[in-house]
Amino acid sequence: MAGQYVSKPTSHARDGIHSHSKDFTEVPTPPNDNLALKSPAFNSRLMRALRRETVDCTPVWLMRQAGRYLPEYRATRAQAGSFLALAKNPELACEVTLQPLRRFPLDAAILFSDILTIPDAMGLGLYFVDGEGPKFERPISSVADIAKLAVPDMDRELRYVMDAVRTIRRELDPAIPLIGFSGSPWTLACYMVEGSGSKDWGKVKALALNEPRAMHQLLGVVTDAVIAYLGAQQAAGAQVLQVFDTWGGTLSPAMYREFSLPYLTRIARELKREDAPLILFGKGNAPYLEELAGSGTQGLGVDWTVTLEDAARRTAGKVAVQGNLDPAILYASPDAIAMQVQASLDSYAAGNGGSREGHVFNLGHGLSPDMLPEHVAALVAAVHAGSRQRQLG
Ligand code: CP3
Repeated sequence: MAGQYVSKPTSHARDGIHSHSKDFTEVPTPPNDNLALKSPAFNSRLMRALRRETVDCTPVWLMRQAGRYLPEYRATRAQAGSFLALAKNPELACEVTLQPLRRFPLDAAILFSDILTIPDAMGLGLYFVDGEGPKFERPISSVADIAKLAVPDMDRELRYVMDAVRTIRRELDPAIPLIGFSGSPWTLACYMVEGSGSKDWGKVKALALNEPRAMHQLLGVVTDAVIAYLGAQQAAGAQVLQVFDTWGGTLSPAMYREFSLPYLTRIARELKREDAPLILFGKGNAPYLEELAGSGTQGLGVDWTVTLEDAARRTAGKVAVQGNLDPAILYASPDAIAMQVQASLDSYAAGNGGSREGHVFNLGHGLSPDMLPEHVAALVAAVHAGSRQRQLG
């Protein structure tokens, strides 16, 4: 199956020859002064795929690619003392960001940090209890608490994040793009109101239903903060930006369209990001792919409750599609992993007119601490081998 999909020449073809020029005269390379200023990562597989340009093979990176499944991560975390101390130390955050890239030929690095840095910087007091996940000392418990919230200063309270971005960008291979990220407004509001993770997100949903105006005020200020935060990460050197809407899929369609989708759309429209493409990832966003594809984002991250064939068809070439293997597939054998990877690559192509363009390989959610690095290696190798395009000419 591999190699059956021939790349379609596009006007971006590297040789500068327009495939559609009628008289076959050579078209001179357009005077694009910008090109010289662009970083080497601009032409990386990931950034090309997010622009739906041709690539030699499908790019792959993995959510939570830096984390506890790597023994070297556990060692650096022990050195830092805690997860938060690690995330707040730019040198050590840089070290753990680079660790998975030393092991696997991944096509991107992702900033090592957390989505809860914004509410922490807003004064809610983030802390972690081992085995229990994130918690806030001062969650939002009244309408009056919401009125007091303000967008944090990116150069003060969140300076450690920008310092980590700058440090990583200095240490990372210039040809490899660095992904910056934020939580979505709804997902951040979930933790801010509950004060921790939750099974049913009852408090935050009750607030949305009982006090919709206050909820919109909260989502509005968080959206302003997300836009400032992603913009600052881009200015510090991040070349791709991803928003994690981890909990949007727990909403009913009516509530999703009122409390999550409009804020994702605002980010896609208002975030000034130069050449940095935006990826909107959402768990359980399958019912809304058409709407999300029209939001102004460049990439859409999906989970395994939708086939890539379906996702590609329904987004109709408007965005690149990222995803979507069930992470549990990493518990299977390397041979089974390779088969699932090939099926996933082919599913995307089937929904995309037979072409692999516009696909970024990822899991539908993050890696878990008990997964084997050897299985991750098998997955990354299978993506590249199974998608390699035949050379043109
Ligand atoms: O993907 C990456 O490699 C980048 C780093 C990253 C982390 N968290 C590191 C982390 C990213 C992108 C996140 C995002 C994040 N954080 C999300 C959205 C993505 C998702 O998983 O849906 C959410 C909901 C959080 C909040 C959060 N932070 C949770 C639920 C936890 C797990 C707590 C636990 O004990 O398992 C964290 C902590 C966290 N963030 C860890 C890592 C590697 C584990 C911390 C440790 O070392 O103990």
